[in-house]
Amino acid sequence: MCGIVGYVGSRNCVPIILEGLKRLEYRGYDSAGIALVKDGLFSIDKKAGKVADLVQHLSHYNGSLSAQLGMGHTRWATHGEPNDINAHPHWDSEEKIAVIHNGIIENYSTIKTKLVREGHVFRSATDTEVLAHLIEEMYKRTQNLASAVRHALAEVEGTYGLVVLSTHESDRMIAARKGSPLIIGVGDGENFVASDAAAIVDHTRQVIYMKDGEVAEITATNIRTMTIDDEDTEREIEEITFELSQIERGGYDHFMLKEIHEQPETITNAMRGRLQVDEGTVVLGGLRDVQDKLLKARRIVITACGTSWHAGLVGEYLFEEIARIPTEVEYASEFRYRNPIINSDDVVFLISQSGETADTLAAGREAKQKGATVLGIVNVVGSTIARESHGGVYVHAGPEIGVASTKAFTSQLTVLSLITLMIARAKGTITEKHAQVLSQELAAIPEKVSRILAKTTEQIKEIAEEFRNAQNFLYLGRGANFPVALEGALKLKEISYIHAEGYPAAEMKHGPIALIDENMPVVFVVPKDGIYEKVISNLQEVKARRGRIIAVANEDDHEIEELADFVIRVPRTYGYFGPIVNIIPLQLLSYYMAVARGTNVDQPRNLAKSVTVE
Ligand code: M6R
Repeated sequence: MCGIVGYVGSRNCVPIILEGLKRLEYRGYDSAGIALVKDGLFSIDKKAGKVADLVQHLSHYNGSLSAQLGMGHTRWATHGEPNDINAHPHWDSEEKIAVIHNGIIENYSTIKTKLVREGHVFRSATDTEVLAHLIEEMYKRTQNLASAVRHALAEVEGTYGLVVLSTHESDRMIAARKGSPLIIGVGDGENFVASDAAAIVDHTRQVIYMKDGEVAEITATNIRTMTIDDEDTEREIEEITFELSQIERGGYDHFMLKEIHEQPETITNAMRGRLQVDEGTVVLGGLRDVQDKLLKARRIVITACGTSWHAGLVGEYLFEEIARIPTEVEYASEFRYRNPIINSDDVVFLISQSGETADTLAAGREAKQKGATVLGIVNVVGSTIARESHGGVYVHAGPEIGVASTKAFTSQLTVLSLITLMIARAKGTITEKHAQVLSQELAAIPEKVSRILAKTTEQIKEIAEEFRNAQNFLYLGRGANFPVALEGALKLKEISYIHAEGYPAAEMKHGPIALIDENMPVVFVVPKDGIYEKVISNLQEVKARRGRIIAVANEDDHEIEELADFVIRVPRTYGYFGPIVNIIPLQLLSYYMAVARGTNVDQPRNLAKSVTVE
């Protein structure tokens, strides 16, 4: 959730680290810090607030700050409020060892009590600081930084991606990973470490993805990776797959808006080379080895968090209705702790944009351990979930920087649709003709999304202006559009801080209807499908109570004008693919509501892009 970047080489690392931190800021952003080692001495600066606040603070050096070894960190607070003192890096007692850390040290309190008894004085309220003091103790015994880190980590419970620098050995960085992603960037006469490739892609495309339990000793010219017990581990150098332009705003006011507008292309990318429209067939290389398991699955379980969980709910409709496989969808955070009944003929799908979400990862490990086939639907190439799954499908949405997930969601839905078609064809639950029609429907979606973006934006800006002061919003939909209602509500609350609830439209009368009056905006997702009339009845119930209705309806729906206060038009789409199209105006609505309210769209308060702690 926090961001890490480190450098060792012959260049001045200050701009490299600060630029890297800016690129990582979307992951966590309540404070930032930098540690540099020069002439055997540390210089450490840290500041609550954004990276810009740290940069401003560094201006008192008048540009004189420079070093060839350094590291930086952006924090998303877990232990201790976000202030200057709790910002990383943290030192040992003698200020000779500094640590930056992502994750949580669960037994920090026990370790801290012991160290305090031995005379250590702590400055911060963080769990991370115990690492610095513990490594200090281990260094006294080993006189070797890598060994000291390994010995310290042997005493630690919890998760970490961390980097350690020391003036004792001022030519190296020690990095370690357990549960929080960390990559080593391989350069020429220089090396990098980062929690996310975005931080270093400017400088190198060659990376080593550190594995859980690995420690690395990194100098300008050498990288040694080892286990915590000092066994050498194999290193595989891989290529970063995205371009720098993909992690830049490219003329848009916010990453979220850019990512919303990328969707015609990202949905196309999710289908590219996979969907054969004329034949009505789908080829998914990442599922080839597990196809048999998938076709024979007694049951599918989909587990995920947040927006990815909403995609999973749509997946349930697709898998059950078209592929005719019983499917359950569960929050990963619940699944992992409830001893679920899993059999070897179950297939468990993990859906995750980042591929690093702690709960989803743990749910997958649990399912794997219980003998299920575990498959990932993941965006970030090389991420932990992608690596640990038996197989899977990348959604190929490209880097998603906006904290509110948009393009990843529609790509997840596209991939779920492709998997459904593949299974349905192979199992014969749909005919060839039907599969061809569905394939044509899918292939037509990017153009429909482009149309919505072009035609509805101005109208949605006006609606956002109208409702900018609303305190609450209700989102209602039925069938596969119920998850769309949930996702629309989540988007709104995440970035505009308006309380919003998503409900199945018919469920409203069992409680939420009590909330409806002339101050309650209600968003209905009401395409002309088999349950259109039912949703219209629910809409009438809201209208009768003077609720203000915003309807997302099809272009050829002429009844709706009479009933709704605002109608946002979307093209007709085959029912179970409808969510890919119907969510677009709701993404735009939440975006323009946030802009109208002046909130920080890309970095909403309290959130982090990738939730790598429980
Ligand atoms: O990276 P993941 O898809 O596993 O992330 C899951 C959720 O944390 C994520 O979808 C979150 O809800 C987003 N902020 C939604 O916009």
